[in-house]
Amino acid sequence: MKRIPAAPLWLSAVTLLSLTAATRPGPVRGAEPTPLYQDATQPVEARVDDLIGRLTLEEKISLLHADSKFTTAAIPRLGIPRRWLSDGPHGVREDVGPDTWSNAGHTDDFSTAMPAGICLAATWNPELGFSEGSAIGQEARLRGKDIMLGPGVNILRTPLCGRNFEYLGEDPLLSGTMAAGYVRGAQAQDIASCVKHFALNDQEYERDSINVEVDERTLREIYLPAFQTVVQSGGVWTVMGAYNQFRGQHCCHNDYLLNTILKGEWGFQGLVMSDWAGVHDTKEAVLNGLDLEMGTERKYDTFYLAKPYRDGLQTGEFGLAGLDEKVRRNLRVMIATHVLDAQRKPGSLNTAAHQAVARHVVEEGIVLLKNAGHILPLDLAKLQSIAVIGENATRLHAHGGDSSGIKAFYEITPLEGIVKRAGSKVNVVYSEGYRKGGDATLAERAVAAAKSAEVVIYFGGLNHDKGFDCEGADRKDLQLPYGQDELLEKIVAANPRTIVVLEGTMVEMGAWLEPVPALLQAWYPGMEGGSALAGVLFGDVNPSGKLPATFPKKLSDSPAHTFGPEAYPGVKGPNASNGTVTYAEGLLVGYRWFDTKNVAPLFPFGFGLSYTTFAYSQLKLVPTETGVTAEFTIKNTGSVAGAEVAQLYVHPEKPGVLRPEKELKGFKKVWLQPGEQKTVTLSLTPQAFAFYSPEQKSWVAQSGAYQILLGGSSRDLPLQAEYQLARTQLLK
Ligand code: BGC
Repeated sequence: MKRIPAAPLWLSAVTLLSLTAATRPGPVRGAEPTPLYQDATQPVEARVDDLIGRLTLEEKISLLHADSKFTTAAIPRLGIPRRWLSDGPHGVREDVGPDTWSNAGHTDDFSTAMPAGICLAATWNPELGFSEGSAIGQEARLRGKDIMLGPGVNILRTPLCGRNFEYLGEDPLLSGTMAAGYVRGAQAQDIASCVKHFALNDQEYERDSINVEVDERTLREIYLPAFQTVVQSGGVWTVMGAYNQFRGQHCCHNDYLLNTILKGEWGFQGLVMSDWAGVHDTKEAVLNGLDLEMGTERKYDTFYLAKPYRDGLQTGEFGLAGLDEKVRRNLRVMIATHVLDAQRKPGSLNTAAHQAVARHVVEEGIVLLKNAGHILPLDLAKLQSIAVIGENATRLHAHGGDSSGIKAFYEITPLEGIVKRAGSKVNVVYSEGYRKGGDATLAERAVAAAKSAEVVIYFGGLNHDKGFDCEGADRKDLQLPYGQDELLEKIVAANPRTIVVLEGTMVEMGAWLEPVPALLQAWYPGMEGGSALAGVLFGDVNPSGKLPATFPKKLSDSPAHTFGPEAYPGVKGPNASNGTVTYAEGLLVGYRWFDTKNVAPLFPFGFGLSYTTFAYSQLKLVPTETGVTAEFTIKNTGSVAGAEVAQLYVHPEKPGVLRPEKELKGFKKVWLQPGEQKTVTLSLTPQAFAFYSPEQKSWVAQSGAYQILLGGSSRDLPLQAEYQLARTQLLK
């Protein structure tokens, strides 16, 4: 049952003021049996035009701001229902109270908990993005939601950002492609997705006030393309402004980002909403492109886009055309997602198909980082005892991380997954090993358990506690917490057959990494995590994930951490009330930095092993009408079926301007039986060779020689061919 928070007081009060309707008042009873706007066979724009003409000024304004934490007001006389928004992006969030962040205590607000965004990105499989979006969209519909707050596509600039787990990694092409698939899947279920946080919300430290300074080229080449892809190719209906400032103006009302780029250059037709309490100024909110203000930190009548806006309209400070433009965008989203129609997709919850999506995403997103002597997969037929060690073997993660947390229908922990899959013939013992504020006996008992078992499977890494992978704060360092480095050294000394599974985002890895034969990165694996992990460990599933971000050897190797506090976490000028962070590394984010500066990563972008091997051959470049197609062959040269993510990078040979050493310009996940080979094609348009020229306000594909590099990771590119771009082109 949905709860209906009390109607905002000022709305009922102001109706008494009987303000003049901006345009025509409500329908005349009987004169129009089926108003045009209610006729689902009419074009969206005609319906919007019709409806906007029926709204009073008060009603219009009521559509532009929240009336509870996650709703906007209904207009019953016109049959406009309350709009329900929900986080996002890993499933449909539990219900919170109308005015607080606390759980509402409902018992019917469970949902399927998908793996974290970074795990979805690690699948490099846009079809899975579509399936996940579609499952979440169906659950959103059943739970009565209209707008789902996700996906998040902020670029992983620093490994310390507390929300990296929610986002899709360090590369704009990968991130945008995965997110666009997700949005298409979700919106096909008659809900609107909300891509967030636009833009440059790349750290949680001082996120409400920090001002980001980034040069125009970097903005265009690194931080905006994923959003642009989601807008233009994903067709996303809503965009959430970020909390932070960009060039001295808050992103929720940033004229350049919202009016010039998003709505102007990209032609976005949907609505821009604020992040919760991310608005700071009425005039900017009115004029700079915001269409819907959310948050509860203010009383509803004092929302910047409520009474202050109405006052400004009455004094003539703001024009009515601007009001209608905002209303139009809100109505367009409602009508396009069938909010007003009887035939709206009804949705479904926790179906076997949704569970399967949760499982497929993690099965394809787990990354095998090391497998010396082919210790994995473990052969259960030959195994009698396993020591499972580590707090993350039993810890539930799905509810954590803050706004992206999910009240999961269930969550299969790694220990449960292993016990179930190992069956009764294998003796599985569990030892916690470490714990926040734990003592030495925990470690001693774990070492004893390690000694007496044939094989150890260690589950450690991070969790969603504040200060790790959690909204609202960044990590302080990249260390494994709770003394795990020392513990792991002791465990692997006690039993060299130690398999390490890390959950969470990236960490620095201590001296244990060398002797440990196998390492898996499992992110936050969602409610099917334990089953998927058991599947990978025992060989039912062949891992095929690839890193969506570079793992540095140490934090100080990361580009954002090479230029002092100005570049991270930002500094305050003598008279400034807020800090400024300057992206001094410019274009060289993630692998673009490590490759250009020749810094050896711990594990490179795009890297991930399999239980089989793949051979690349026969690269041919075939000119097309619009550019060039790379045609090549991949063969499964091992003895089990598996999937490989072929990655295409472009290296400009003699660029006239600074260019990263190479950049990802295409990828494809390919499934192959043992011995099977497939011809794969990846097509490039001139955009794949272009850089953004701030002087020309345009993308420029410069004529000249480019290397096309192909292979299974950014540092393993066996196929290379030269491509000559015949003429320089300016691209829009
Ligand atoms: C977060 C958003 C989230 C919103 C609503 C904000 O604090 O930054 O990502 O969608 O809250 O929960």
